[in-house]
Amino acid sequence: MAIDITRVGIIGAGQMGSGIAQVCAAAGLDVHLNDREAARIEAGLDVIDASLAKLVSKGTMDETASREARKRIVPARTFADLGDCDLIIEAATENEATKREIFTSLCSGLRPETLVATNTSSISITRLAAATDRPERFIGIHFMNPVPVMQLVELIRGIATEDATYEASKAFIAKLGKISTMSEDFPAFIVNRILLPMINEAIYTLYEGVGSVESIDTAMRLGANHPMGPLQLADFIGLDTCLSVMQVLYDGLADSKYRPCPLLVKYVEAGWLGRKTKRGFYDYRGPTPIPTR
Ligand SMILES: NC(=O)c1ccc[n+]([C@@H]2O[C@H](COP(=O)([O-])OP(=O)(O)OC[C@H]3O[C@@H](n4cnc5c(N)ncnc54)[C@H](O)[C@@H]3O)[C@@H](O)[C@H]2O)c1
Repeated sequence: MAIDITRVGIIGAGQMGSGIAQVCAAAGLDVHLNDREAARIEAGLDVIDASLAKLVSKGTMDETASREARKRIVPARTFADLGDCDLIIEAATENEATKREIFTSLCSGLRPETLVATNTSSISITRLAAATDRPERFIGIHFMNPVPVMQLVELIRGIATEDATYEASKAFIAKLGKISTMSEDFPAFIVNRILLPMINEAIYTLYEGVGSVESIDTAMRLGANHPMGPLQLADFIGLDTCLSVMQVLYDGLADSKYRPCPLLVKYVEAGWLGRKTKRGFYDYRGPTPIPTR
């Protein structure tokens, strides 16, 4: 029997979780938004309010639809509040131990038929599935950032993912008005397997003094026609997420070409994680971003 998804639980109310909540609610689904920090749920809801208001002001969404969408998103203070969901999407920090802990404590409170997905950028779906009680109903649903704008969603099947889970996930993505692709379960899948080594190389280019932040970003915007420079993009993704993806590629493929640049490591150690902490390869604390090197 086809699995119909009408109620979605989202774990992690950061930039991805809040974006996923918004697109689900805009598509008419009920959303329960969870985070381990209550303040992050409130911050996520503020981001959604601002994003919906922007869509209304641009005429992309009408006021009533925006109000209705917002009403469908409710905070879920604990995992117990996610018990009646048809699908859970985990969008917490890109750290395998964190995600495994979430799945271990989450699953006992869910209905047996509930689907569980992860928005991981790079971690093995098969390994994460093994931390749940339902590997056959577990899948990678990898949204792109910013979720309300980006069309693509990568679907990644673990070794045990059943066809029904894949088909229901594909139908869910279509309901959101997005396009899905299928990737095999290899480190970082398709998009980040290609994108993150390019960003890491841009950081090496900076580290070795080949160019400044501004030269590297301008070179790739005007010379390769990229919509934003690789260092600007790294700040946008989050440098902690970039480092985690490179570590997964390096460990998973055992090839030195994926070695994370020491400068990326240093920025993360400093807590300079990009836009979300207001400092990364650019400093965002003033009216215009200023390169930090
Ligand atoms: N940033 C991107 O461009 C991007 C794109 C695609 C996928 N992703 C993936 O999405 C996920 C989230 O990334 P993000 O950029 O939104 O990160 P983020 O740092 O903005 O948000 C992560 C959120 O997870 C919460 N969290 C951490 N541990 C938790 C727990 N145990 N229970 C509940 N919540 C918890 C944090 O409090 C935080 O609010 C990661 O797996 C990342 O790889 C990120």
